[in-house]
Amino acid sequence: MNALLSVADYERLAEERLEPGPWAYLAGGSGDEWTLRENRAAFERWTFRPRVLCDVSEISTATTVLGNRIELPVLVAPLAYQQLYHPDGECATARGAAAAGTGMGVSTFSTRSHEEIAAAAPGILQWCQLYVFQDRGFTREHLASAEDAGCSAVVLTVDTPRLAQRERDLRIGFEVPSDLPLPYARDAIGTAPSNPADQFALLDASVSWRDLEWIASEGRLPVVLKGVVTADDAELAAEHGAAAIVVSNHGGRQLDGVPATLDSLSEVVDAVAGRVEVYVDGGIRRGTDVAKALALGARAVLAGRAPVFGLAAAGEDGVRHVLELLRDELALALCLLGCASPEELTPAHVQRSRS
Ligand SMILES: Cc1cc2nc3c(=O)[nH]c(=O)nc-3n(C[C@H](O)[C@H](O)[C@H](O)COP(=O)(O)O)c2cc1C
Repeated sequence: MNALLSVADYERLAEERLEPGPWAYLAGGSGDEWTLRENRAAFERWTFRPRVLCDVSEISTATTVLGNRIELPVLVAPLAYQQLYHPDGECATARGAAAAGTGMGVSTFSTRSHEEIAAAAPGILQWCQLYVFQDRGFTREHLASAEDAGCSAVVLTVDTPRLAQRERDLRIGFEVPSDLPLPYARDAIGTAPSNPADQFALLDASVSWRDLEWIASEGRLPVVLKGVVTADDAELAAEHGAAAIVVSNHGGRQLDGVPATLDSLSEVVDAVAGRVEVYVDGGIRRGTDVAKALALGARAVLAGRAPVFGLAAAGEDGVRHVLELLRDELALALCLLGCASPEELTPAHVQRSRS
């Protein structure tokens, strides 16, 4: 019997179901994939210090992000080109996320518009992930359409001034199908066949802290800065108007050699000292991973590949089930750690056990 009991089970099924190109693009990292592996390995370096006799008869996994309630401290990370993984693309992801009681980031390279996603999953918490094009006209239109469609934050991703070398994609010759609808990028890209690196070459590598101020002041939405891994940049993010930070190395897909995000988290949390919310992503595959990230100071985590394994394996039900697995595993971990809710997790609940 092939029971789907864990994210790893969904990962295996997703690999079976996908063509080699989309699988390579989803699973791969950059360079030697050292950072990709480190993101996972770091979770194994941290172990738990449970407390007992704490009355854990009632457990809640709910929290808030930027004032919005979510039923589990896990959001779906923005992930490009989701029609590669299911015919309904981001609409299926949104329905699965909404059914699990959480929200999602929607990539600039989404295959569905914010309006289509809002119609598919009414009321879903939607964050617009922004890459800034050299032609700012596209970016202005993108921002306006996100606001009109009810997005409640902008996620400005800042670790991608150029796309890194992803050798799995290059070996396999992965190209983005030219008929993939890309409502926020197709006009800029045109319809000629292209690979992700060509598409990312249209983005503006001159983006600076002034642009963060521009986006924070031009729009009505709070800005979440995604891709910060140092205290210095966390400090600047807070000074220049970010409302939140995602400690992220793009899932090990950009600068190979940066540390695991779990290892960068504490320095960012300490630097912002509560001025902005801090989230983390990279390698989340278990509820116990979520518990470790929260203990080290994250308010919530983003999961990228895990829900998309669910999408590729079983559409919206797969997305929902992956998120429910993470929620149930987190609830169990909280209970066994002696915590009734995510807020009760502290750095004293974990220790770094080996280097
Ligand atoms: C296939 C793929 C596509 C991605 N596309 C985007 C994107 O368009 N914008 C973005 O900000 N991050 C993108 N990311 C990074 C994710 O938002 C997130 O940082 C990363 O997936 C977290 O690591 P995890 O997949 O191990 O959970 C992408 C990641 C993957 C795997």
